[in-house]
Amino acid sequence: MRILVGITGGIAAYKAVGVVRLLAEAGHDVKVIPTANALRFVGAATLEALSKNSVDPDLYTDVADVKHVALGQSADLIIVAPATASFIARTAAGLGDDLLSSSILASRAPILIAPAMHTEMWENPSTVANVATLRARGINVLEPAVGRLTGEDSGKGRMPEPEAIVDAALNLFVPQDLAGVKVLITAGGTREPIDSVRFIGNNSSGLMGLALFKAAQSRGADVRLVAANLQVDLTPSQVDVSTTKELREALIELAPTTDVLIMAAAVSDYRIESPSDVKLKKANLGSSPTLTLVENPDLLAEFGARRSKSHQPTLVGFAAETLSGEELVASARKKLQAKSVDLVVANDVTGGAVFGSDTTAIELVSASAESSFEGSKLEASHAILDWIVSARK
Ligand code: CTP
Repeated sequence: MRILVGITGGIAAYKAVGVVRLLAEAGHDVKVIPTANALRFVGAATLEALSKNSVDPDLYTDVADVKHVALGQSADLIIVAPATASFIARTAAGLGDDLLSSSILASRAPILIAPAMHTEMWENPSTVANVATLRARGINVLEPAVGRLTGEDSGKGRMPEPEAIVDAALNLFVPQDLAGVKVLITAGGTREPIDSVRFIGNNSSGLMGLALFKAAQSRGADVRLVAANLQVDLTPSQVDVSTTKELREALIELAPTTDVLIMAAAVSDYRIESPSDVKLKKANLGSSPTLTLVENPDLLAEFGARRSKSHQPTLVGFAAETLSGEELVASARKKLQAKSVDLVVANDVTGGAVFGSDTTAIELVSASAESSFEGSKLEASHAILDWIVSARK
């Protein structure tokens, strides 16, 4: 995509460098247009190096190229980060007195603006009215983040992080085919306590479940995440659990109202029969202690069996196996039937390389078909969601 990145004159301009870098690294053709004041905060050389394009915000150079309209006309997307209160006011007024504002006036591309200013300025009635005007015209204005501001103060007004800006901008092109659909995702790996400091766990990093969360959210879904031992904060969409029992309790509460249930968490099939409340001591355990395990309920099978005529959520299970090819697909098909789910996403975890990796290779196995997908976990998530969207039709 051809993306114009406008940078206006605020201290957060130094963070806009991250936006330019992320977009260029993702393979986009990035053209940066700083305002004159933005160049007091960040140098043109930095922006040229990261965007791999020249940076010349002067309206009166290369006049023969008609650049004051050509840049806006050729853009597929315009991002302005940071956007000062003054820039927002000038855009609301329709001014075109520098290269950035004239490019915006001359463009029909989607526009995303990431404001950054002090709380008082953001809440000033002028800014409030100007933001409302821009939004009414279809310009996407992000809410500023809350946190430390330039001086000693903190509050609402921080520029959102570069990753959040890039995600929001690229999401403008994602079809909203899960708008209003309630999706519940389990992610991570359960832990079964042995004593007060030790547990039986597994290698699941939770990255696949988190990618599914991000992908479903970008397609407009109303997503909840049941996070088993994950160091993430997706408040207010996240419920934290640790053991299989806690995961089951969360599902009992949340599953009855969901439209789609995706069980990506690695759930322990067994737990310790009687975990100790205090730390066990080697001196008391001897050289070959025995841990007695008891079976945990199979939650996927349980929630498959709970489906009724009146509530039929689409149910997706995962199967991490040390199998490949035909054997992997056959085992997934067996699981599909045994647990009465709609789709089993199977992957070969031989060697453990997939744990913690950003990429994966999956088999999508349903009653009527099977297909393979290889790529990033985010791309794999979209492939799974594509299947879900067509199954719900
Ligand atoms: N799962 C579950 N409850 C369990 C175990 C697993 O809900 N007690 C779910 C997982 O979230 C996953 C799917 O079942 O979606 C596959 O888990 P897996 O351990 O591969 O299934 P098992 O039937 O336990 O596999 P196996 O028979 O090979 O041990």
